Amino acid sequence: MKTLAVDIGGSGIKVIVLNEVGEAITERSRTETPNPAKPEPVLAEIVALVEKQGEFDRISVGFPGVVMSGVIKTAVNLDSDWVGFDLATVLSERLGKPVRVANDADIQGLGTIEGKGVELVVTLGTGFGSALFIDGKLVPNLEMGHHPFRKGETYEEQLGRAALDDIGKEKWNKRLEKAIATLQHLFNCDYIYLGGGNTKKITFELPTNVKIVPNMNGLLGGIALWKDY
Ligand code: BGC
Repeated sequence: MKTLAVDIGGSGIKVIVLNEVGEAITERSRTETPNPAKPEPVLAEIVALVEKQGEFDRISVGFPGVVMSGVIKTAVNLDSDWVGFDLATVLSERLGKPVRVANDADIQGLGTIEGKGVELVVTLGTGFGSALFIDGKLVPNLEMGHHPFRKGETYEEQLGRAALDDIGKEKWNKRLEKAIATLQHLFNCDYIYLGGGNTKKITFELPTNVKIVPNMNGLLGGIALWKDY
């Protein structure tokens, strides 16, 4: 049973095929996210990438917004045309395989957590993703990114890619250090995991319970969407 894992991001779309136990068995393919990132051009890019990946039996998709039963509810960093779009059904029709869709940070978390205690996953990319797990069980639809953080701005406004480009690495690192402390005070986490492309920009020493995790986990976690199947 082979699973095609797809990660739709604000700047790139990535795909890979996983075996039964969730190990990668193909080379990851990546392409730039189209601009504007409306459903049709994004679907066309996925279909084109998939052609290079060979055979698979089912599909897991990580999407950068709130997803409920395969339907997109928010897509702040892509395009508002996604709201209400039944991605699971449409992609399944296009590729002829069953599809499950989840939030990108949730999938990053599913590919990362130990399954014990309070574990928080934060992704630092175009947006600010968040996923909270209690003894391995996901707290659904946590959107910390759009919650107020400081100076009248949200975590995403202060720490997303636009903020990093705007304020530079040094200030962004100071903000991130404050955000980690604030989140630790709020959730009293056993672990905080930091994923996403901008973890490369981190320059300060992280607290002992905070770890940077490979971006690849955002694809590898896709296998977990099928654990009951
Ligand atoms: C979205 C989240 C997503 C995060 C990272 C945020 O803007 O609201 O759902 O996980 O970006 O892509």
